[in-house]
Amino acid sequence: MILVTGGAGFIGSNFVLDWLAQSDEPVINLDKLTYAGNLENLASLQGDSRHIFVQGDINDRALVESLLAQHTPRAIVHFAAESHVDRSIHGPEDFVITNVNGTFHLLEAARGYWSALSPAEKDAFRFLHVSTDEVYGSLGPNDPAFTETTPYAPNSPYSASKAASDHLVRAYHHTYGMPTLTTNCSNNYGPYQFPEKLIPLMIHNALTGKPLPIYGDGMNVRDWLYVSDHCSGIREVLGKGKLGETYNIGGWNEKPNLEIVHTLCDLLDELQPRADKQSYRSQITYVTDRPGHDRRYAIDARKIERELGWRPAETFDTGIRKTVQWYLQHGEWVEHIVNGSYRQWVEKQYRGLGTQD
Ligand code: NAD
Ligand code: TYD
Repeated sequence: MILVTGGAGFIGSNFVLDWLAQSDEPVINLDKLTYAGNLENLASLQGDSRHIFVQGDINDRALVESLLAQHTPRAIVHFAAESHVDRSIHGPEDFVITNVNGTFHLLEAARGYWSALSPAEKDAFRFLHVSTDEVYGSLGPNDPAFTETTPYAPNSPYSASKAASDHLVRAYHHTYGMPTLTTNCSNNYGPYQFPEKLIPLMIHNALTGKPLPIYGDGMNVRDWLYVSDHCSGIREVLGKGKLGETYNIGGWNEKPNLEIVHTLCDLLDELQPRADKQSYRSQITYVTDRPGHDRRYAIDARKIERELGWRPAETFDTGIRKTVQWYLQHGEWVEHIVNGSYRQWVEKQYRGLGTQD
């Protein structure tokens, strides 16, 4: 059995679904169900005894300790986090509470549990920490992509809190010998992504006739990976990763934001054209830039390929088409999210920005 934290969020729920599609090893899924956690993502597992969902906070050490004692998992895969950069700018405190304190409490509970295991179980145990490429900061246009030895230089409260959690995980390996693994992945996209992030937000706004808000000049570059490829990378690292090491995961898909939005508009023009036959591109609006907006991220994924033989299965073209089709087929999933608190967030985030044209 494995313990997954944050398994009702975007990547965590994809991981749990993929895991149980490929193995019968049960999953305990500990998730606080913040605004970003959604049990509808896991609806297909209803009645499946291999999935045990527990609503709870990773900061609740007594709860985590009792789950570990009761279920004796052989691994923890830690996704739970506050994950949206713009929210971290409006309210950084939750990011420190969950990403830093929460990871600390989880590590402490795991350390107590792991220390008391038999030597063979101790050797087999793994604590896999899921992190981001944003800890490495921002690249210039001609800089080489981030490697596992690129110095940390986080620029947003989100990335700073993730960097802090990475350092704690590193320290627990070096100090206590805990069998940790860390993955630093690039931007994910795919099914079940909360529509506050670029790709699902643009799809939702396009289909509801709203402006498509591009921050700044739209030339910030992100390196995109289809979510199931991230999940397969995590499974590889969990199975074969070297203890105490970090692995960058990415799909060699650097794209400026404007190109992403153009691609989404073109796919929507093809798959669900507007009634007036105009392109969705006409909804593009340039808005005030995000403060401290990192210019470019790019992942050098050679280590995980060389050492573990992992490569992404999707190209950007195949992944983005699947993603748009998924959102077109799951209008209800989006409708259930686009409720009062989502609308309040969108109002708060985009009201102040003003358009540039
Ligand atoms: P998400 O915001 O969609 O989901 C986060 C989940 O964690 C939610 O289900 C939420 O309810 C849960 N959670 C939040 N606080 C919690 C707490 N205190 N206790 C228990 N559960 C809590 O995030 P995501 O996009 O799925 O990201 C998952 C992980 O992957 C994060 O650690 C993130 O930093 C990392 N990551 C994300 C990306 C990306 O592009 N989304 C890229 C690289 C790394
Ligand atoms: P996002 O999905 O928030 O991920 P991250 O900031 O973690 O990379 O944003 C991806 C890129 O898209 C980032 O450069 C900011 C930009 N962006 C917009 O231009 N408009 C938007 O409305 C959003 C949400 C993001």
